[in-house]
Amino acid sequence: MRIGIFGAGGMAEALGGQWAEAGHDVMVAARDRAKAARISPRVGTWAETAGASDVILLALPAASVLEVLASAGNLDGKVLIDCTNAVGPGAALTVSDQAARIAAAAPGAHVVKAFNLCHVDVWRMTPPVFGGRPLAVPICGDVVGEVSELVRDLGCTPLNAGGLDRAALMEATMAFMVGLWFDGHDAQACFPPLPA
Ligand SMILES: NC(=O)c1ccc[n+]([C@@H]2O[C@H](COP(=O)([O-])OP(=O)(O)OC[C@H]3O[C@@H](n4cnc5c(N)ncnc54)[C@H](OP(=O)(O)O)[C@@H]3O)[C@@H](O)[C@H]2O)c1
Repeated sequence: MRIGIFGAGGMAEALGGQWAEAGHDVMVAARDRAKAARISPRVGTWAETAGASDVILLALPAASVLEVLASAGNLDGKVLIDCTNAVGPGAALTVSDQAARIAAAAPGAHVVKAFNLCHVDVWRMTPPVFGGRPLAVPICGDVVGEVSELVRDLGCTPLNAGGLDRAALMEATMAFMVGLWFDGHDAQACFPPLPA
């Protein structure tokens, strides 16, 4: 798969690095080209990277995504993976309808929300398996095929979680869960196993 990564921070390195290892064709765009080159020798501008990619991971702060997309050229037909979590006052996660905002800014693209529910250290695991069970990764969007393959490449299980209209629920879930974790609570303990 031809994958573009926007950003060269923790999420870009964790996900893009593993996808390159899995044999995908990874190109990285970031304002710091030296950081981008640590993930892949193929580095380009936003527009060059978008033009050379079918799937693009938006590994940027939520607040900067729309500005970057405006410099990325024609995104029609591209799959844009939104892994972002919006940050509010005091660095707490907040709800911003981020995926919907991206879809409105790139109406010809297929926006998919995924990979926002876990800390970057989980995405660095090869593979993220807990208690013998691979991590499940919910995907919200209308085009889930390619993203499901990328989830499997991490050793995770893709979970088709519905259309992009459900992405805001996932964003809100993450904001709530992170608040629990930061307060020292085991958020997973809030949910019974499926048979219950
Ligand atoms: N970290 C996590 O645990 C985690 C987990 C799930 C989802 N996420 C989400 O994933 C996204 C990326 O997180 P991250 O941890 O990879 O962040 P990060 O390590 O801080 O990297 C952010 C990247 O975005 C670039 N950037 C920052 N502001 C920019 C701007 N105005 N224009 C263009 N590029 C800009 C940074 O460039 P410079 O290096 O030049 O600053 C860097 O390459 C965020 O939306 C975050 O909410 C993070």
